[in-house]
Amino acid sequence: MSNARVIAIDGPSGSGKGTIASLVADNLGYKLLDSGALYRVLGVAVLKYNIDINKPSAVAELAGKLNIEFGRGGPGTLWLDGESVTKEIRTAIASDMASTLGAMPAAREALLEAQLGFRQPPGLVADGRDMGTVVFPDARPKIYLTASPEERAERRYKQLIGKGIDAILPDLLRDLKERDQRDSERTISPLKPAKDAVIIDTTNLDIDQVVSQVLELVAGS
Ligand code: C5P
Repeated sequence: MSNARVIAIDGPSGSGKGTIASLVADNLGYKLLDSGALYRVLGVAVLKYNIDINKPSAVAELAGKLNIEFGRGGPGTLWLDGESVTKEIRTAIASDMASTLGAMPAAREALLEAQLGFRQPPGLVADGRDMGTVVFPDARPKIYLTASPEERAERRYKQLIGKGIDAILPDLLRDLKERDQRDSERTISPLKPAKDAVIIDTTNLDIDQVVSQVLELVAGS
C-alpha cells in the first residue's frame, strides 16, 4: 500500500468539508476521496437491489461487488454499475440510508479497503467522519471542520437547489440534527475530532478563508 501523504478533513454534514477538500486537492494536485459518497452509493445500491438492510452479511456482500466509478461523466460525477447516480446520492433517502449504513460495522469494514485504495502519489485529501481517527490515522494534518446546525442546513439547501434538487429548509435542519446525533452516538467510528485534529469553526468564514487556513496547516505540518 502507498504511504503517500494524506490530509484528513472530517466533520459533520454541511461543515463545508466536501467543498474545502476538493479545493485543497486541486491546489496541491492531490487525489480526492469523498468517503461519504461511498456510503451514499452503497445506500442507493441497497435500495436498487432490494437488499435487506437488517442482514449485515448481505450488505457486506453487496458492498464488496459494487462497481463504483468517480468522475466518468466529468468532475464530481458518480456511477454505480454503469448508471449515473450523481443526483440520486444527494437525495434525503440516500442521506438517511448512508447514515444508517454508517452505523453498521459490516458496511464500514466492507468499504474500508476501497477507501485505502485512494491513497496514491502524490497525495490524498480525504473527507468524511473518520478519516483522521480510523481510516488514515497517520494523516497530517488532521482537520475537523464544524459550523452551527442552522448554517450547515442553509448551505445544504443552497447546494441542493443549485443542483436542481427540491428541498425544504426546516426539513433539512431536522434531518441534519438527526444525522448528527446518529453519527456522533454510534459506537463504531463515531463522529468526533481526532485527538491531534485542528478544529476550524467555519460558521463565519468564507470558503477562501477556510482553504487558506487549511493550506497553512498543510505547509506547517
Ligand atoms: O459526508 P456525507 O454527508 O456525504 O456522508 C453521508 C453519511 O455517510 C453520513 O451521515 C455518515 O453517516 C456516513 N459516513 C460515515 N463515515 C464517513 C463518511 C460518511 O459514516 N467517513
